[in-house]
This record gives sequence, structure tokens and C-alpha cells, in this order.
Amino acid sequence: MSTLQPKGDAELKIQGKTVRLPLVEGSEGELGLDIARLRSETGAITLDPGYVNTGSCSSSVTYIDGERGILRYRGYAIDELAEKSSFLETSYLLIYGKLPARRELEVFVDQITRHSMIHEDMKRFFNGYPATAHPMSILSSMVCSLSSYYPDCMHNSPENRELNIYRILSKISTIAAFSYKKSIGQPFVGPLNRLGYVDNFLNMMFAVPAESYEINPKASRALEMILVLHADHEQNCSTSTVRIVGSSLANLYACVSAGICALWGPLHGGANQAVIEMLADIEREGIDVAKFVARVKDKDSNTRLMGFGHRVYKNFDPRAKILKQACDDLLGQLGIRSRQLEIAKQLEDAALKDDYFIERKLYPNVDFYSGIILRALGIPLNMFTVMFAIGRLPGWIAQWREMLSSPGLKINRPRQIYTGPNLRTYVPIEQRV
Ligand code: CMC
Repeated sequence: MSTLQPKGDAELKIQGKTVRLPLVEGSEGELGLDIARLRSETGAITLDPGYVNTGSCSSSVTYIDGERGILRYRGYAIDELAEKSSFLETSYLLIYGKLPARRELEVFVDQITRHSMIHEDMKRFFNGYPATAHPMSILSSMVCSLSSYYPDCMHNSPENRELNIYRILSKISTIAAFSYKKSIGQPFVGPLNRLGYVDNFLNMMFAVPAESYEINPKASRALEMILVLHADHEQNCSTSTVRIVGSSLANLYACVSAGICALWGPLHGGANQAVIEMLADIEREGIDVAKFVARVKDKDSNTRLMGFGHRVYKNFDPRAKILKQACDDLLGQLGIRSRQLEIAKQLEDAALKDDYFIERKLYPNVDFYSGIILRALGIPLNMFTVMFAIGRLPGWIAQWREMLSSPGLKINRPRQIYTGPNLRTYVPIEQRV
């Protein structure tokens, strides 16, 4: 694993006092100002709402160059992995840092396959949710509940850590599929160890006891690729949440449950559901694409072009490019004509020619086309963000594991600039006005 390299220092003048702070460089030339001594030497802290300029850690898992539209897991280009790798192989790569040898992959897949059942008592939890419950709320609470069934997760030895990694990677898809079955009133379909990870998930989602279910290999491959594309994205909102919770040494299930909650929001993973809702509104109400773009540009309308824009990418999101092509391929192969795909392409064309989007460097992101593929696979709308969570899980695990093995691990605890009242004297209630 490469480490930060010293790169000279920077001079900072604060209220007449000059301090020299070290500069560090990552393996792709990214420059960082190490401010560890800032407060002790100057009394000042940094203020960076939204962490737009703040590196919370150094990491060797994922590299993004937002200006050039580059995404790599452990040095491998995302387009190559999307085409050639499987979800479990990519998971291994993210978590352990290298592509597995054949035997290593077999052992990893075998371990994950063998942990796919959930405790029988947990099945009863599903009855406690109303039929209208969003599957993300079920997923986050069920994942946290796993810590009650596997209390060894609280003793963070390396052996327990690996065992619980296998468990969560495996059980998340069972929990996700069961939450869907519960919502439509069908019996749970348990995992089948003879099937691969993605096929097993599709079978748990769509098989029924009354008839056999044929898995379409094209659908399976498309889902595999979607999961690979979502598998990590460095220090995004949910991953940072996993790291923050993990920094208090909370167990893996608690950390992932928190990550799932962070992912749920429409500005993050929830955007894949929001994109389809937006396209459906445009289709249903027959809204002209140019008028919709004008609405998005009007700040008073409170409307965003969902699936557009990204904190880091100021160029095409490479995942969106791959997904757009995959969308065309899959819909062609399945013989589906999608009005929503047509609207999405018209929106993209209109936005990419428009000064508002050009000036702000807003491009389609991963969520813009993924929903159309998920819909073509028969995944219901409210399960879209669950699919994102299943895909992102290996990334959360890899980042959590990396954090725990980093030397000098510290609890994450940002500071603040206080703006409230100065010291006041308590006023008894009868004297208050
Ligand atoms: N539609 C219209 N205007 C936008 C959009 C959009 N989708 N995204 C950003 N802008 C405008 C924004 O109003 C602001 O304009 P101004 O400078 O005039 O105030 C400018 O672009 C910068 O936006 P920002 O909100 O400061 O940018 P950010 O880096 O804080 O937010 C974002 C990034 C992804 C939250 C935002 O682009 C957004 O809300 N996009 C829509 C939701 C979405 O698709 N989210 C999925 C993100 S990718 C997958 C993931 O992370 O889960």
C-alpha cells in the first residue's frame, strides 16, 4: 500500500503569526495540506461546510479524477471491471486490495454463499412493518439487528471481522429480497446455494412456489454490472458515515446500517428512485422537455434535474456513460421500448447544450440511467436504492476495514465555530417575559 509522500510545506499567516504546515502528496499527485498542528499552533480551526475542500482520510481503495471523469477501484479502470469482473470478484478486490487468484475467489464465494440464510426469528420481524414501509427503512433496521444475532461482531478480532464481512455481504441480499416479498404479500423464497450471487438474488425476488422461475442471463449480467459500478466511490456521504460510526469502534452491522440511512436521501442514493419519479411525471403530464429544463433553471421552482450533477465529477461520470450504453443494449435485447429512456436522452441532450449546465459543469451521474435498467429487470421503484445499497456494501466494508487497520486511528470528531449566545444567567420561570 502506498503512503502519503512529503511535498515540502506551506506558509500560513494567521493574525500576524506565521506557521509552516506540511504538504503531502498521494500516489496520483493529489496535494494535501496537513493541518494536524493548525489549532495547537494558531488557535484557529478550518471552516469548510459540506467538506468541499476537506480530505477526511488517506485511502488506497478508490481513485476518482472528477475533472477527467476517471474512476478506478484499487487501480483498475471502472469500464474494464464493469465489462470483465463479477460483483464478488470486485468485492474481493475492494476489500483485500488485489484481484483474487482462482482459489482465493472460490473460497471467498463459497464463504459468502454459505452465509445467506437469516435466523428464523428474524423472519418474524418483517411482519412488524406496515405494508407501505419503505424497503430502505426495513433494510437499515434489519442490518443493525444482525448484530443481536452475531454478538461476536462486537469483539473486533481479525477472525471475527472476516466472518462478519462474509455474513453481511451474503445476508444483505436475502434481507432485501424478503422485504420485497413481504411488501407484495408473497411467501419468502429462501437462498439457493447452487446459484451465483446475482442469480440467487433474482430468484429470491421473483420466484414463487407455484411455478419455476427462469433466470434470464442477460438480466443477470446487467444487474451484475450495475452492482460492480456502484461498489465504491471513495468518501461520499454514506461511506463517510460508515467511517464516522466505525471510528467509535461500533460494530460492522451498526456502521453499515448508518451508511444505508445516509444513502437513502434523494441527493445521494435515493436519486435513482427520484430520477424515475421525475421521468414518470414528465411522461404522465406530457411536459415538454425544454419547459422542464427551464423549470429546473428557475431557482424558485425548487426543482433539480435529478441524476445530474456531482460534487466530484465536473465532467462525465464514467459510470453514467457505461450505463447509458447498457440501457440501450439491454432494452434492445429484451425488446422493450421505453418512453422514459427517450425522455431521459432528450433531457440529457437539452441539458448538455444549455449554458446553465455547461457553466456549472453538470453532467449525468450514475443515477440518471441506472433506474431505467432496474425497471427493465422488473425491480420495483422503491427497491432501487436498496439495489444501490447492495452494490455499495463492499465499498463500505473495504473503507471500514482500511480505517480500522490504519495506524493512529482516531475517533472522528469535527469541531465547529460557535455562533450562539454568550454566557447568560438562568432566569426563573416566573420572571420570564
Ligand atoms: N439540477 C439543477 N441545478 C443543479 C443540479 C441539478 N441536478 N445540481 C447542481 N445544480 C446547481 C446548483 O443549484 C448550484 O447552482 P448555483 O451555483 O446557481 O447555486 C450549482 O449547480 C452547484 O450545486 P451544488 O448543490 O452546490 O453542488 P453540490 O456538489 O453541493 O451537490 C449534488 C452535488 C449531487 C447533491 C447535486 O448536483 C444534486 O442535487 N444533484 C441532483 C441529485 C442527484 O442526482 N444526486 C445523485 C448524486 S450521484 C450518486 C450519489 O452520490 O449517490
